[in-house]
Amino acid sequence: MNYIDLRSDSVTQPTQEMRDAMYTAPVGDDVFGDDPTVKNLEKLCAAKVGKEAGLFVASGTMGNQLAVMAHTVRGDEIIVSSGAHLVQHEASAAVLSGVMVKVLECKDDILTAAIIEKACRPSADGLGPRAGLVCVENALSNGKVMSLAQMKECYDAAKKHGLPVHLDGARLFNAAVALDTDVKQLTQYCDSVMVCLSKGLCAPVGSVLCGSREFIEKARKNRQLMGGGMRQAGLLAACGIIALDRMVDRLKEDHENAKYMAGRLNKMKGVKVLMDNVDINLVFFKVDRPREFIAALPGRMLEKGIKMAGEEGGLLRFITNNDVSRADVEKVCDVFEAIMKESV
Ligand SMILES: Cc1ncc(COP(=O)(O)O)c(C=O)c1O
Repeated sequence: MNYIDLRSDSVTQPTQEMRDAMYTAPVGDDVFGDDPTVKNLEKLCAAKVGKEAGLFVASGTMGNQLAVMAHTVRGDEIIVSSGAHLVQHEASAAVLSGVMVKVLECKDDILTAAIIEKACRPSADGLGPRAGLVCVENALSNGKVMSLAQMKECYDAAKKHGLPVHLDGARLFNAAVALDTDVKQLTQYCDSVMVCLSKGLCAPVGSVLCGSREFIEKARKNRQLMGGGMRQAGLLAACGIIALDRMVDRLKEDHENAKYMAGRLNKMKGVKVLMDNVDINLVFFKVDRPREFIAALPGRMLEKGIKMAGEEGGLLRFITNNDVSRADVEKVCDVFEAIMKESV
């Protein structure tokens, strides 16, 4: 069966062009610095985000963690909002970098100058941890996009305290497309940025961490320390180059599909979409049904050829991507509506 998969945008299949590029990519041993395709990808990504250098890494998580490790010293505290991927899904900063994570509750999960300011204050006795890094996410895991003004506000507040800013840009290109701006406009407000190639951009594996040359050399050493050196990684980097060159502009289709889907779902009885959060390709919603019904939803959708994630924190979500067409969206909404009606 050909499933419609709305669990994530990481489920996207690499395009034929990526498979072809993989087949012919010149490669070498990247741990020796010999892989021309990896080098090209790193250079291309750094140029796109306006930083000096890039480092190809196995995952977004590895990119974020290498950033924390390179920016901080053990015992530091990193400042981050509570919904961030770094907090919710990466239990690694304390383990790998020996830092404390100052988890902050903020409206829409967006840090403000006032919140950063408060978090940066030295403890009353001066013996508390030193703030070492501010981490922001754009686009956010909650589906929203931080505006340029919000990014600037965080950056200026961090700089006031001499702190670096790391941007988790797993969906940075989605944010730029949603804001109709160049990514560099966003990345001017960070010292380092991690971008995922393997989400909406459809590459099979990998992320790129970008920053100053000095920062990237530190991260490269630490990538090796973590066993993250990859040999003929050009096979994967070849797909990453296509992801960056060819797959960014089409993200708007995913956004349009998400908005369309959100509109249809929100009209259904018993469904409430978080309409203010549909800035990119993520649609979060609640259904007014008993817990057993909600728990059974993924199984019932699967019977109709649709994959969806289970409820998390009271919310369900659909994520549009390159392998989900407008016709698929219509089918998903029809099936979902029928299931909702049956249950009344
Ligand atoms: C905002 C954000 N940051 C980081 C990551 C981690 O990426 P990876 O799954 O490649 O480790 C994800 C993954 O979904 C994410 O959504």
